[in-house]
Amino acid sequence: MELACQQSKQQDPHEMLRSFETEVRQLSDTFTTERKEGFDAYQQQTSMLLAYGLFYFPQTFARVRYPLLELLAHRKWSPPLERPLRILDLGAGLGAASISFAHLFASHPTLQEIEITALDSSRQSLQYFRKLTKEQSAQWPNVSWDIRNADLRKTESWLPTSSPHWDLIIASFSLNEAFYGALDEQIKWTELVLTRALQKTGVFLILDPASQEKTHRFEQYRDHFADHARYHVWSPCLHEHPCPLRQEGKRQCHEVRQWEPPDSMTFLNRRLFRHITSLKYSFLALGKQPAPAFSQPEGQALFRMIAPLQNNKAHAQMTGCCTDGCKREFEWLKRCLDKPTQKQLVQLERGDIVHVTSLQEMSRDGYVRLQKDSSCTVVHPTPLVLKGKNADSAQSPDDAS
Ligand SMILES: C[S@@+](CC[C@H](N)C(=O)[O-])C[C@H]1O[C@@H](n2cnc3c(N)ncnc32)[C@H](O)[C@@H]1O
Repeated sequence: MELACQQSKQQDPHEMLRSFETEVRQLSDTFTTERKEGFDAYQQQTSMLLAYGLFYFPQTFARVRYPLLELLAHRKWSPPLERPLRILDLGAGLGAASISFAHLFASHPTLQEIEITALDSSRQSLQYFRKLTKEQSAQWPNVSWDIRNADLRKTESWLPTSSPHWDLIIASFSLNEAFYGALDEQIKWTELVLTRALQKTGVFLILDPASQEKTHRFEQYRDHFADHARYHVWSPCLHEHPCPLRQEGKRQCHEVRQWEPPDSMTFLNRRLFRHITSLKYSFLALGKQPAPAFSQPEGQALFRMIAPLQNNKAHAQMTGCCTDGCKREFEWLKRCLDKPTQKQLVQLERGDIVHVTSLQEMSRDGYVRLQKDSSCTVVHPTPLVLKGKNADSAQSPDDAS
């Protein structure tokens, strides 16, 4: 906000926000309804970049935390503690993803130093990024920044010539621009980055817009690595089997997370009418080593919710992608639940990782039923334990991992 006020020479924040309404609308159209090659070169126009900062920076800042926290808390990925943590942000733009990570790791109890390298082909974006890190540096005293102008596709200009360097690589909403319509090239490039840039114990996190396209581009990308002998899928899948949604050919796997946008975004959205109270995105975390595997004890399941909860009159239904790579429908009759639990159930969101017990197979293929003695525990991101009317001591989700 301060930067936009300074640059637009507007003292009053509301006047400043009003002055960017046209650019925000243009950007929003560029990213959604009128997505096209080159993305209208918004990265080269100062006013468009400031509009990006006001409307999209906060979304990236909040969004990238979900997959990172999942890796740290649920997939047991840990940053190195004996030396600085090295992060690479590819297509960093104004730096929202790196700055979010800097914030998150600044309060980490055991991390010492953090070295962040950020690349982008837009000099104008990097100017603002540098300004932000300079002005706000007191917030992250243990972070050093190396912000470089480079084309991420031209790997010879930035890949290390000796051993792989980075522990965490992030590409947030940039590969879909850099490799627009060129998935094969993106796959080859990703293999090179994994081999040459990523430490053996590191992870490469890719976030992409959740699109309505029927091409299943992102799932194709994911399946390539799930099937690869040298690289492994860490998230969002709890398995490395072929993606069941891609096999069905109907829906794209993506996350939808409710959040509270800042007032400035709400103000800008007065006449834009975008759905700004949810963060929608696809993501993929890749590693060189396999992620810790999950077991699936008899009568239990651990799954990721890959559709919104269906809250019907007589039953609730969760669609899950399970640890064995199968998609299942988990049904819970309302008569198995007391009223407060029925109310709590609606808090479950697409993308939640859920552990359920005391399951009963149904005659319909792919359908499973929770019972009166079942429990349903959201393991990630917001812990929540729901129990059927007769479930006294629910099994812990740790029993399933
Ligand atoms: C939608 S913005 C995302 C910025 C930031 N990562 C975020 O999530 O807010 C896409 C960024 O990718 C950058 N980009 C696109 N193609 C690139 C390329 N070939 N090399 C480097 N950066 C690229 C653009 O300049 C732009 O800053």
